[in-house]
Amino acid sequence: MRLAVLGTGGVGGTLGVKWSTAGHSVVFGSRDPASEKVQKLLQAGGANSCADLPHEAIAGADAILLAVPWPAIEQTLATLGDLSGRLLIDCSNPLKSDFSGIEVPAAGSAAQQIAAWAPGAIVVKAFNSAGVKTMRDPMFGTQKATMFYCGDDEAAKIILAQLITDIGFEPLDAGGLDMAGSIEALAMFYIHLAFKRGVGSNSAFGILRR
Ligand SMILES: NC(=O)c1ccc[n+]([C@@H]2O[C@H](COP(=O)([O-])OP(=O)(O)OC[C@H]3O[C@@H](n4cnc5c(N)ncnc54)[C@H](OP(=O)(O)O)[C@@H]3O)[C@@H](O)[C@H]2O)c1
Repeated sequence: MRLAVLGTGGVGGTLGVKWSTAGHSVVFGSRDPASEKVQKLLQAGGANSCADLPHEAIAGADAILLAVPWPAIEQTLATLGDLSGRLLIDCSNPLKSDFSGIEVPAAGSAAQQIAAWAPGAIVVKAFNSAGVKTMRDPMFGTQKATMFYCGDDEAAKIILAQLITDIGFEPLDAGGLDMAGSIEALAMFYIHLAFKRGVGSNSAFGILRR
């Protein structure tokens, strides 16, 4: 697949490199595609990766990962033009600036707010309930970390589940986009446990079955 990864920080950099290594064609969308930071990602991503400005990076992309900070998302979307019919993957957590909780957007969740800001786009949610360390390596012993995802478009969710699988997580379909707020709350709970309750960032959610 051809993937546009907008934002070249911890999440965008990690997922973009992993997808290009897994054989996808990845275009990093950066405010400064010539920066040293982006050049390092291209070295790591190899021949399947390149970089451009965000509005150029999305041209022809089968899916667009929005991996920019929550406060920058509305502005980033405004630079992208008409996104109707485009598959938009939201990985954001609308955290308060002191990480003490979530600032619930008017639409009910970050993903639903993004859907409101990008009318006609096919918005799905994933990659927000695990930390970057887990994204780099989702294996915990013999168990894969679980990646919850949701959205209203079944075809888009099949693509998303494959992208989750490709980077080594166990995908778990949580339902429609109206479940996004629950996954965002779960991410906040993870941050609380990991950084305030001593669980640490070498931890992740996993589903036990028997
Ligand atoms: N960190 C985590 O463990 C984690 C886990 C799950 C989900 N998330 C979510 O993933 C998204 C990205 O998080 P991250 O940790 O990768 O963030 P980050 O390290 O700060 O990187 C965000 C990237 O977004 C781009 N960007 C565009 N507009 C920006 C602006 N106004 N200010 C700052 N950066 C801007 C930058 O790339 P360019 O300079 O190339 O434009 C920047 O490198 C967030 O929505 C976050 O809630 C994070």
